[in-house]
Amino acid sequence: MLYENIEARLITPNQGVEISGVDLNHLRDDQAADIKQALIDRKIIVFRDQQISPERYASFMALFGDPVVEDLELVDGNPPCVGVIHIHPNEQQKINFWHMDHSFRATPSPKLSLYAKILPDCGGDTLFASLESAYDGLSARTKDTIDGLWAIHKHTPTQNSKRRYTKEQFDKLAASEVRHPVVGYNPDNGRRFLFVNMPQYCRYIDGMAAAESEALLSKLYRHVQRPEFSLRLVWRPNTLVVWENSHCLHYPVADYFPSERKLLRVSIQGEAIKALPSAA
Ligand SMILES: [Fe+2]
Repeated sequence: MLYENIEARLITPNQGVEISGVDLNHLRDDQAADIKQALIDRKIIVFRDQQISPERYASFMALFGDPVVEDLELVDGNPPCVGVIHIHPNEQQKINFWHMDHSFRATPSPKLSLYAKILPDCGGDTLFASLESAYDGLSARTKDTIDGLWAIHKHTPTQNSKRRYTKEQFDKLAASEVRHPVVGYNPDNGRRFLFVNMPQYCRYIDGMAAAESEALLSKLYRHVQRPEFSLRLVWRPNTLVVWENSHCLHYPVADYFPSERKLLRVSIQGEAIKALPSAA
């Protein structure tokens, strides 16, 4: 048994766990403690068949930090921290690439959640890759190469950001750059993680020649995509997932046109990415 107070089934050896034997409407403190630990251990936790209100969804997510007011479309009457990702019938989902949300911010959201409400009959799966597993899978030579490096991240417009920002907010985001360590350190479990994102967000290595930086970042981005570091979540209505956004990339599969897909989302207050003290 992995945890004392919840049932947990590993999804792959390296990351992900499906948790059962809990009702998120009536969570005991001992179960909540196991769920928090499971997220640290496994990066992606999945619950099936949970019937909870948007209010209960928000209060459940407070287990992992402070939910923030959503910058996505809000649904009538929902708490302001519960947003929606809604692809309407006959609308093409355009976000279908490996990425992390918000790495262009100084404090990316460490944890995100999605809760499925309307799904296509099949398709619309989401893949998640663990950046801790990806770091562990690097060669010793590459680990040495990237130790102590910092990368510059910057915003690029996406299908969702076009909906959520005003032109002024957009221009401000487009003008600001942030700097994050390439090798992050997770004090919750003592593991390192490979903090890279898609090239439209993760622009270049600070202080490195452009061609060398591009070659290194694209090699690392490709490395994260190896199937050994990821899982594929097949959604069902009322499936709820929580993942460590700053320790994962995700890939929403856009294979279900012209069907509808609607998920609720909660994001947790952002945190700076930590580096080991040696990487100043
Ligand atoms: Fe995303």
